[in-house]
Amino acid sequence: MKKLPKCILTGATGGIGQAIAKQLSEKGYSLILVGRNIENLVMLVNKLQGKHEVVIGDITNETDRANMIAKSFNNVEPSVLINNAGISNFSTFNEVSDTDINNVLTTNLTSTIQLTHEFLKKRGGQKSTVINVGSTLGSIGFPGYSLYCASKFGLKGFSEALSREMANTDVRISYLAPRATDTNINTSNVIDMNKALGSKVDPPEMVAKELVYLLEGKKNSRFIGWPEKFFARLNGAFPELVDLSMKKSLPTILKFTEGK
Ligand SMILES: NC(=O)c1ccc[n+]([C@@H]2O[C@H](COP(=O)([O-])OP(=O)(O)OC[C@H]3O[C@@H](n4cnc5c(N)ncnc54)[C@H](OP(=O)(O)O)[C@@H]3O)[C@@H](O)[C@H]2O)c1
Repeated sequence: MKKLPKCILTGATGGIGQAIAKQLSEKGYSLILVGRNIENLVMLVNKLQGKHEVVIGDITNETDRANMIAKSFNNVEPSVLINNAGISNFSTFNEVSDTDINNVLTTNLTSTIQLTHEFLKKRGGQKSTVINVGSTLGSIGFPGYSLYCASKFGLKGFSEALSREMANTDVRISYLAPRATDTNINTSNVIDMNKALGSKVDPPEMVAKELVYLLEGKKNSRFIGWPEKFFARLNGAFPELVDLSMKKSLPTILKFTEGK
């Protein structure tokens, strides 16, 4: 039987992270579950099939990142890194603080890039896969999400450039873009806004299934959901058309931004 690679999974205790952990463990992958809360990590690992490791740490902390990599490479080396940890921010730009700007960009972009850098250095060119969990909002600028969009557009650009840079190596860099998903990252305002706009919301199990498909396939990116993937392409080719559609939705979106 083919030996499955060992995977580091950040944001393992979140909604999408738990679904990924469950599906990968059921397929026989061995996991290193990374999170900030030991109780949640232990609860998760106890629910999974097979033997897995847990590593506590905040990806925005340099010492924690070094520790995550050191502990992960202690036994059998992981060859897959799934960068799934992330935070959101839904508010008008007027309402955001300096701390919000720092937190969103550091967590979703800078620290994710730094962890990837440390992981790939440690792998030293051996066959490896990195999957970055981005978002539809990494391709479509959405009112109320300027910080989140900045971070996920950045992550998409990073993934695309690095994937092309590594094209002739054994390192594969992939990008997964879920649309709205039913997890705690979305505040009640966001849930209400999605209902008002008629936006579809996926269960985390569906996102996990797409991630497994991406991991086991040969493609470098996957965008989830229709019409979102069409809008992402349309926004790339004819952004002015998406401007018009967003302008129509703007009063509804602004009704739900936090602080209103
Ligand atoms: N849900 C959606 O609508 C949606 C749509 C598109 C993309 N995504 C992306 O999917 C990914 C997973 O999100 P989710 O929906 O599962 O959200 P979630 O339930 O809130 O989970 C987020 C996870 O990230 C972890 N995390 C956040 N900051 C961290 C840090 N500094 N260090 C270590 N871990 C940290 C959290 O850990 P703690 O438990 O310690 O807080 C949590 O496990 C994110 O990258 C998100 O941007 C989500």
